[in-house]
Amino acid sequence: MLAITGATGFVGSHLVEQLKSKGEEFFCLVRANSKTRFLEQLGCKIVVSDFSQEKLEPILKQVDSIIHIAGVIKADSKNAFFKGNWMLTKNLVNASIKAGTKQFIYISSLSAAGSGQTLKKKTEEDPDIPGSWYGQSKLAAEREVTKHPHWVIIRPPVIFGPRDTGLLIIYKILSKGILPDFGGQRYYSMVFVEDLVNFVINVISNHNIKNDRFFVCYDEYFSFRKLCSKISNILDVKPKSIYQPKIALDFITTWNIMGDSMFNQDKLRDLYKKFWICSNTRAKLAGILNKLTPFDEALSKTLNWYRKEGLI
Ligand SMILES: NC(=O)c1ccc[n+]([C@@H]2O[C@H](COP(=O)([O-])OP(=O)(O)OC[C@H]3O[C@@H](n4cnc5c(N)ncnc54)[C@H](OP(=O)(O)O)[C@@H]3O)[C@@H](O)[C@H]2O)c1
Repeated sequence: MLAITGATGFVGSHLVEQLKSKGEEFFCLVRANSKTRFLEQLGCKIVVSDFSQEKLEPILKQVDSIIHIAGVIKADSKNAFFKGNWMLTKNLVNASIKAGTKQFIYISSLSAAGSGQTLKKKTEEDPDIPGSWYGQSKLAAEREVTKHPHWVIIRPPVIFGPRDTGLLIIYKILSKGILPDFGGQRYYSMVFVEDLVNFVINVISNHNIKNDRFFVCYDEYFSFRKLCSKISNILDVKPKSIYQPKIALDFITTWNIMGDSMFNQDKLRDLYKKFWICSNTRAKLAGILNKLTPFDEALSKTLNWYRKEGLI
């Protein structure tokens, strides 16, 4: 039996969809006020918890593997990040150790490692230097996870795909014929959500993978300009470059002008860093990274979903 946290979110929803199609036995651990309609429609078993260690312990007794995806990616205080990432993870790890859960898989982030200084891809051996509160809270959570006797930490970079709204703002701006230029160049590793989920499923079924960390991403990294150019091709637009000075971005994030977007003040701490690139070599060597969806196809699938939902 598997227990999944974060199933109501972007990444978790894809994992449960895949697990369901494979006939796996699992339940979704959610909060009392979580919106569970999608999970109910899929026919998933749902268990409500307040995520305190005492309440989690009996729930996790029947569980072989816990896949902990839940986390806070947007918040306006350091405390909120630490509560939603570090504290939540600490409770889950302690409860699962006491309950005897065999395997603890955690979806962390490249932000826990921090950005690089050059175009050299980050590896799992590089020192961790998270810059944002988000990254610091994910690293603190990772340290809790490593207390479990059988842990696996997955550190995705930017994740995109259907049901994600992180890249939506970029699709939207480009579709209006504007190519945002933040000054200088920035580079990103990326992973398509369906490929990430396949990787997680490979980890679940491969108990030889133990006490290890993995970056999961495409071989290629993308400059912001190249990413915009690829999205523009898919949108079939020829946008005009417009310089966005830092002050404009600060204004947008301070007043949350874009609404539910990836831009907020803490995100900016990461966004101004230039090198968010990592290596998938260790994941490949472990033999659990399947052939990835071609990048353009993944961008198209994402656009199709935005269009279907009337977001673009
Ligand atoms: N999206 C990315 O580009 C990206 C990149 C790297 C790493 N990650 C990591 O991937 C994971 C999933 O991200 P996502 O994009 O799927 O996020 P998301 O769509 O915002 O979903 C977050 C999930 O976490 C749950 N959650 C949040 N706070 C919680 C709490 N205090 N207690 C219990 N559940 C809580 C939410 O449940 P409710 O429905 O109850 O709110 C929701 O299911 C996160 O851990 C994130 O750090 C994401």
